[in-house]
Amino acid sequence: MPTISPQSTVGRWVELRCTLPTIWADAVAEWLLEGRTSGVLVEEGNGETVGPAEAVTLITALPAEADVESVVDQLQAMGWTLAERSGLQEALSVETRLIAPERLEALLAPSFKPVELTGGLWVVPAEGAGVPEDIPPGVTTIRLIPGLAFGTGSHPSTRLAARLAAAWFGRLSGERAPRVLDLGTGSGLLAIAATQWGAALVVGVEKDRMALENAQRNAALNDVGAKVAFIAADLTTMEPRAWADLLVANLDRDHFLLGSDRLVGWLASGGAMVASGVRVEHEGPVLGAFESAGLAVVERADEGPWVAFLTERR
Ligand SMILES: C[S@@+](CC[C@H](N)C(=O)[O-])C[C@H]1O[C@@H](n2cnc3c(N)ncnc32)[C@H](O)[C@@H]1O
Repeated sequence: MPTISPQSTVGRWVELRCTLPTIWADAVAEWLLEGRTSGVLVEEGNGETVGPAEAVTLITALPAEADVESVVDQLQAMGWTLAERSGLQEALSVETRLIAPERLEALLAPSFKPVELTGGLWVVPAEGAGVPEDIPPGVTTIRLIPGLAFGTGSHPSTRLAARLAAAWFGRLSGERAPRVLDLGTGSGLLAIAATQWGAALVVGVEKDRMALENAQRNAALNDVGAKVAFIAADLTTMEPRAWADLLVANLDRDHFLLGSDRLVGWLASGGAMVASGVRVEHEGPVLGAFESAGLAVVERADEGPWVAFLTERR
């Protein structure tokens, strides 16, 4: 762990690399994404092992002024628990180094691959950040700048949300162009996609500074700045206004278990909500929360352990 003096850290980042057995990677990545960072890359197949187990490296970056030491301590404590459970000498190692902001994009770019978000709409890296050779000709694309924001299209919860949102747009007929609220916008990908599906206006809400910066740059890059606005806020403390024709919420189960009543408060009359970021094993309680909040499920989609819902106000 480098010793970092406060003067030297402003605007700089600490790259954090955590090597651990593949089977633990999802759990540790999810822990990092619980408000500690908004993006984690997984470096696979480098042949490394931890004891007899195949290893992967999780890579993320934290603002240098954040409490990096505490994150490293907690990761190491997790490593000892994992080592004890799996009978390994050492299950997890963490390395950190201070990096300049311009290194961040270079660090993120190689792992950023083109991916089909849904129905012929592809996400590709911004110019210079990778050549999207392997995408079919004639498809629609959204370009993203590599950043530490969730929402590159590589995660099933983003694709499920996109699929259900696109389905909702597909059913509109001749009505006025809808207004969309994207809660937890991350990279802004779904907000940008909503303009392509026909939204008149999209508001993205995000509490993470790094993600918000990335979302703003992505909206400008895709030339949708006139239709998309971003708000830096914690959605759990915002006073809802019945405004949105479609609410897109790729969050986690707690937001739905504890906050569905509040989420419904954002919906205009006849409005719908796409809820994603729920693991299949938590589906029952989440559906119960929707029921109590007066939301009826009209479509369900799943991919691997992830499930998403299109719901309407009853
Ligand atoms: C799972 S990511 C989804 C990102 C993107 N919308 C997508 O679908 O790929 C959730 C995002 O919500 C943000 N978030 C989580 N809780 C929030 C809260 N209470 N208020 C505002 N943003 C929040 C996180 O920082 C993260 O960027």
